[in-house]
Amino acid sequence: MKKTHEKILKWYKTHGRKDLPWRNTTDPYSIYLSEVMLQQTQVKTVLERYYFPFLKKFPTLKALGEAPLDDVLKLWEGLGYYNRAKNLHKTAVSIEKLPETIEALMVLPGIGKNTAHAIAVFAFRQPVPVMEANVKRILCRLHRFSVPDEKKLWHHAYAMVDKEQPFDYNQAMMDIGATLCLPKNPKCDLCPLKNICKGRETPEHYPIKKKRNVPAREQNIVIRLYAEKLSLCQRSGKFLHGLWGFEKSDIPPCAAEYIGEVSHTYTHFKLKCKVYLYFESAPGQEHYFTPEEIKNLAVSKVDEKIVKLYLDTIQDN
Ligand code: ADE
Repeated sequence: MKKTHEKILKWYKTHGRKDLPWRNTTDPYSIYLSEVMLQQTQVKTVLERYYFPFLKKFPTLKALGEAPLDDVLKLWEGLGYYNRAKNLHKTAVSIEKLPETIEALMVLPGIGKNTAHAIAVFAFRQPVPVMEANVKRILCRLHRFSVPDEKKLWHHAYAMVDKEQPFDYNQAMMDIGATLCLPKNPKCDLCPLKNICKGRETPEHYPIKKKRNVPAREQNIVIRLYAEKLSLCQRSGKFLHGLWGFEKSDIPPCAAEYIGEVSHTYTHFKLKCKVYLYFESAPGQEHYFTPEEIKNLAVSKVDEKIVKLYLDTIQDN
């Protein structure tokens, strides 16, 4: 394994993304934040729009815990998977300092096995492996696993980790996964692991891609308008909890005008919304906002698209 570690580290020295900001800090909170942001999101998005503004507004775990959840959600807007923001906030409210052991980290909301390992190695320099999606793909190919088995993968990940330089080793593995060991057309010729990779002849067989058919869900949305303001309510259900959104309606009011459709694909389903406009003669119980004011609220991607549809519609008329 020593030779393999040398190759990985040599590759990392010349090709690794060593300037990523979370790789150049020793602050556990910043590293924790980056790992949570990166859970379902690409490096580019986190880097360009979210990591720095979030740290600027909430520079410490304490500052985050003292902030209202609404402010946290606002900065998370567009990043999706809003439970991540709520869990970060919950953690910040409940503890002063991040624990250092994997077991204690995994007790915190929103920290699963991989994130706990990432924090342990990147923030606390423990000799443990990470196993996010890209690393998982590498391990599947190295061992020719067509169907990933978590237990086996962790076993192999632990057996392979460089205990002397776990920080660079793990960052390198993620970069190899993100830039060489690609799902399609992997660049095996350039890979520092090519000599030990059992799956090299047919890498695209490992793992086998599961075809996922996402079901479509349809919804009617009513924009209630009063004095050029739009009604929104703060969601209380499990999905998109805490975000502001337009009213769902099984049957739109009969005087409502259909203005178009918006759709958005989430992980498990595609949401299609038929949007109706309804002119209120008197304000109801709802909160009303101008489109300008809505920009300051945390709203989901679909609701953002609905505001755009509304603005396009009134502009056309
Ligand atoms: N994805 C998860 N953690 C990461 C990290 N530290 N660097 C790049 N991508 C990642």
